[in-house]
Amino acid sequence: MKYNFDSIIDRKNTNSLKWDLFDDEYPMWVADMDFYAAPLIYESVNRKAKHGVYAYSFVNDDVYDSYINWWKKYGLGMQKDELLFATGVMPSIASIIRAFSDVGDNVLIQTPVYHVFFYVILDNDRDVVENQLIYDSKSEDVKTAYTIDFDDLEEKFKDPKTKLMLLCNPHNPIGKIWDGEILEKIAALAKKHNVIVVSDEIHCDLTDPNLKYVPFASLDEKLSNNSFTCISPSKTFNIAGLQSSAVFTRNKELYERLERQLAIDYFNHPNIFSIDATIAAYKSEDWLNELREILFSNKMIVDEFLKAEIPEIRLVPANATYLLWLDCSQLNRGDHEDGFSNDLSEFLREKAGLFLSPGVQFGENGDDFLRMNIACPQELLLEGLNALKIGIEKYKIK
Ligand SMILES: Cc1ncc(COP(=O)(O)O)c(C=O)c1O
Repeated sequence: MKYNFDSIIDRKNTNSLKWDLFDDEYPMWVADMDFYAAPLIYESVNRKAKHGVYAYSFVNDDVYDSYINWWKKYGLGMQKDELLFATGVMPSIASIIRAFSDVGDNVLIQTPVYHVFFYVILDNDRDVVENQLIYDSKSEDVKTAYTIDFDDLEEKFKDPKTKLMLLCNPHNPIGKIWDGEILEKIAALAKKHNVIVVSDEIHCDLTDPNLKYVPFASLDEKLSNNSFTCISPSKTFNIAGLQSSAVFTRNKELYERLERQLAIDYFNHPNIFSIDATIAAYKSEDWLNELREILFSNKMIVDEFLKAEIPEIRLVPANATYLLWLDCSQLNRGDHEDGFSNDLSEFLREKAGLFLSPGVQFGENGDDFLRMNIACPQELLLEGLNALKIGIEKYKIK
């Protein structure tokens, strides 16, 4: 390996959300990675920091060229005037919701899904409409472990109040790449019922080695024209703190309305580091390829460990993201006033010092699950797994 994915980095007392929000708990929750940034990003941020002037900057053409070049490998051709800078994926989704729906309208999500999707809809006084994913607890194949109920999707699209769908592509927390055929079915139904698809592709580069995701906008233009695609280097390169993202749409009308809304919301101004860091990130493909190998090997370690040491917990088959979805249904007994996964997560925090996200956070149909972040050096991963084993042994006899 050319890059350093082994160092144990002390992130305590750095005002880190992951490490400093809670005391003495090993954090395998929020989606950031315990690795150093790629060297080119580190150099870019240091260059800026050393310069000593931290005033206004602007979105230049080079950053758009970076996005355009990167997405060529995914078969998506983009033009500069089809891209809009935004300070993050969630800020841009918030702006899209405000610009393309009214208070009281519905926004559809496919649960279990990234919990902030719920908040961004509800905080803007829109209603959440769920198209619950179908789970097959016996399936060993990522294609069938979770599938979409298309009849239900169409029913919900038919409601004239349903204006938008937030698609998670690849999907957090189930870790699934949606294939082209599925995306086409979604796109055709959305088009038929005039629903705008917002494809959140923040996890797109974090696929198993040799696998590629399919951009929603790479579908036939007639199908995908009524859509936005949210992209960012922040998950891929662990630079969420630098707040850089972009929204892509070929649809001029959608583009102009969103451009205006991002300006109204003041989400269109980059900070001093974000533009150069984004350009540096998209020059760091060899670092990313090593990272993907590490993440895949971590996933295999978890799978083997669970099978050997904690057979009550099943790793749901996945092919993307560093967030593993753990089926704990076999441990679910008795009453749980606040939800089984909340109880189990709290128990593990208290008794084993391990913090995993409770599945119910991602929707009620996620309550049999915990989500585990495995983007860390192997040594820490094993520590986390041993803590999980100890915690589950205690849970079984409680
Ligand atoms: C699916 C998804 N979208 C968006 C975000 C957050 O994006 P941002 O920090 O750019 O707002 C995350 C973070 O984990 C995520 O998983």
